[in-house]
Amino acid sequence: MLTFDTIQSVKEFLSVKKGEGKTTGFVPTMGALHEGHLELMRRAKKENDLLAVSVFVNPIQFNNPEDLEKYPRDLEKDKQLLESVGCDVLFAPGVAEMYPEKEVTEKFDFGKLEQVMEGAFRPGHFNGVAVVVKRLFNIIEPNKAYFGEKDFQQLAIIQKLTEMEKIPVTVVPCPIVRETDGLAMSSRNQRLTPEERKIAPFIYQTLKQAVELKNSMSPNEVKQWVIERFSDKPQFTPEYFEIADDRLLQPVFNWKDAEGVVGFIAVFLGKVRLIDNIRFY
Ligand code: PAJ
Repeated sequence: MLTFDTIQSVKEFLSVKKGEGKTTGFVPTMGALHEGHLELMRRAKKENDLLAVSVFVNPIQFNNPEDLEKYPRDLEKDKQLLESVGCDVLFAPGVAEMYPEKEVTEKFDFGKLEQVMEGAFRPGHFNGVAVVVKRLFNIIEPNKAYFGEKDFQQLAIIQKLTEMEKIPVTVVPCPIVRETDGLAMSSRNQRLTPEERKIAPFIYQTLKQAVELKNSMSPNEVKQWVIERFSDKPQFTPEYFEIADDRLLQPVFNWKDAEGVVGFIAVFLGKVRLIDNIRFY
């Protein structure tokens, strides 16, 4: 694996490979890698000649300074995991390399897509994601880029970004990878205390039970049921549970309002904010 920390050096290397007719599969990450990330990478490696991964904790997508400060970082361990999946190119730039300007002023308009859920509760978050992903796409120029359905709304934003900006990349959605007890894998799980980690599977258990209720309850009733289930669990503070269509991610009021319907949750477990989702239809 070759590691690059400057835009110019990684661009030069990949343009030679491109000239040789090699295709590149790209997995952007913020590091603290886990099986969820590695699954995306294994798929990218299989479907392309070269696997390129970026590790960059993107400051401008954090709307909460404590979340940025406490975000887990371990580049040496990440490098070992990247070697284990046959990563060819690691791009791990510093903040000044990605953002040489004093202030990032680029603004995207994703319309309704960014006005709900993560967009509504984390102001500026998706703009920060879009700025960094657009820059990374311009640097790596991948044929295919792989994103997890764990961040379902992010995936929709990236698809819209590539459409709006006419970026010639195929965005490949990949299923959520879970721990054996059902907890969706996340770098932030490392920040849970042992007690919190023990009860964290309650989130996915609740989502699965919610899906069972779809034949006997309306979407609004299911929403209420989910929030109530957390009310006698003081360690959890749900931020939202929403049931929305799988394209524009707008709330559905009847199951038949959309062909694809997904339930989305964001919940604090102690100080750690976790998100998960599940398909209803
Ligand atoms: P990060 O949270 O590191 O995630 C990198 C990629 O891994 C994303 O596409 C995410 O959806 C995917 N992923 C994370 N956990 C997963 C799981 N349990 N199952 C399947 N896929 C999973 O998402 C980001 O970084 C950043 O916003 C980024 C796109 C890199 C821009 O900074």
